Amino acid sequence: EKGGYEHFMAKEIMEQPKAVRDTISPRLKDGRIVLDDITLTKEEIERFSKISIVACGSAYHVGVVAKYIFEKLARIPVEVDVASEFRYREPVVNEQTLVLVISQSGETADTLAALREAKRLGARTLSIVNVVGSSIANDSDDVIYTWAGPEIAVATTKAYSTQLAVVYLLAVYFAEKLGTISQEVYASYIEELKLLPEKIEKILENKEDIQYLASKFFNVKDVFFIGRNLDYAMSLEGSLKLKEISYIHSEAYAAGELKHGTISLIEDGTLVIALATQTKLFEKMMSNVKEVKARGAMVLGLTSEDNRMIEKETDYALYVPSADEMLLPSLAVVPLQLFSYYVSSMKGCDIDKPRNLAKSVTVE
Ligand code: M6R
Repeated sequence: EKGGYEHFMAKEIMEQPKAVRDTISPRLKDGRIVLDDITLTKEEIERFSKISIVACGSAYHVGVVAKYIFEKLARIPVEVDVASEFRYREPVVNEQTLVLVISQSGETADTLAALREAKRLGARTLSIVNVVGSSIANDSDDVIYTWAGPEIAVATTKAYSTQLAVVYLLAVYFAEKLGTISQEVYASYIEELKLLPEKIEKILENKEDIQYLASKFFNVKDVFFIGRNLDYAMSLEGSLKLKEISYIHSEAYAAGELKHGTISLIEDGTLVIALATQTKLFEKMMSNVKEVKARGAMVLGLTSEDNRMIEKETDYALYVPSADEMLLPSLAVVPLQLFSYYVSSMKGCDIDKPRNLAKSVTVE
């Protein structure tokens, strides 16, 4: 059932090209994004004054990426909440709000409760769910399914990747309906989306590079993931994945925020994983890399093939294939997953069933 792999997590990481392809391709027809699954009309989309995203854990991290994507492409304000916080802060949610709920299992208690609260407040609800017929899918006005197939490992990988793929489809779809992107840009995103599965495959083909880096670092005590904008969102996911399955203490920080406190924790040999895929922010990220290096940090940089000059600033560098910058999170997450997997394996941890965790959290 593990298809020849030692762990479900490895199998699920390797299944990502197919999962992403299965999620994207049925929704592309004749060069257009067709979302037959949802009933939202252009007029309804135009009436939304904001999107409010609620989810937990890694699905919340997809939401953080989604905020940047929706705001940039569709120019709609987006809020992202951890589901367990959403209900108790008296959110300003009404008929003009689209509440976007993200959940692999469709059964997470906090997320389901937040969805019900959103409905009570009159919001329109749309969910991105992997399990057909689950409670969240049943209770939402509209559902877009991720076609990741069953995910067994507690640490999510292919569900995350397919949720992100749906976010891209939805954001580009909204942007086209709202007229915030040109037809040319619309067409180019569709072309870029089609290329994602093979680019993910390329990263997986070079997984030994990441295994090598894991062998260098599996003994560290603390890891800091830093990045800006989309790379900050990726830092959140990279950090959760690592601590969840390897029990190494790790934190994710917006790189510019380090000097407001956290940098005091950096000492000789502390591992900093610096995500720098966004060209506009590359120079700023390199300043942050210099800051931590000056305090003794060991820096592993992660960027795309467009930014090979990262090697000058970091101790080690990892590259993902070039792509439109907005889509790079879909690629950058893969080495982060592999790194966590190998570190956990080298430490002899129970990769598929980490201590204290359940696959589906059905208590609030
Ligand atoms: O089933 P859900 O997507 O609603 O689950 C949400 C979180 O519990 C989940 O993403 C969790 O954080 C994962 N174990 C992370 O790998």
